[in-house]
Amino acid sequence: MKMTLRLLFAGILSAFLIGCGGGEKKAPVDPNKLTEFQLANGIGPVMKPLELGPIDKAKAEAGAKIFEQKCFSCHRMDQKLVGPPLHEVLSRRSPEFVVNMIMNPEIMIEKHPEVQKMLAQYMQKMTYQDVKLEEAFQILEYLRLEKETPTPTK
Ligand code: HEC
Repeated sequence: MKMTLRLLFAGILSAFLIGCGGGEKKAPVDPNKLTEFQLANGIGPVMKPLELGPIDKAKAEAGAKIFEQKCFSCHRMDQKLVGPPLHEVLSRRSPEFVVNMIMNPEIMIEKHPEVQKMLAQYMQKMTYQDVKLEEAFQILEYLRLEKETPTPTK
């Protein structure tokens, strides 16, 4: 009798735990309720992993021009300005993250813990620079090229 009660109790307890998700791996506590993908790759138009080929030099060149027009006021490759240096951004962030940051900085600042850390450090908010998605990918190629062969004076 005692045994059956204990079994019954164990049964109820485990049903309760499974019902509460106790059987699943516990997700990290995240007040913003970002998905794993968003935590790793940011929040914006890129919602699945990119498949990148070899660096496209023509795109990178186009990206460099856009960078000078729209980003240079706040970013340099090799030093801090208003924002962080970017020549090694692809060592610390995924390509998806970089494109999402370019396209959607306001939401990234509002919701992404890594961007909030940068905001605390730089005390300035990046703003959307009216960049089209296609242009953001050109800037990405430029940043990939800069990571591989950094231009010393930028
Ligand atoms: C008004 C200044 C400003 C402009 C213009 C600007 N940024 Fe930023 N950027 C920042 C700041 C400041 C941060 C750090 C996050 C924050 O505080 O908003 C940042 C962060 C970033 C990051 C994330 C860096 C990291 O280490 O994760 C990337 C990538 C980036 N910017 C790319 C660009 C590109 C590309 C452009 C041009 C299309 C651009 N930014 C235009 C100010 C700017």
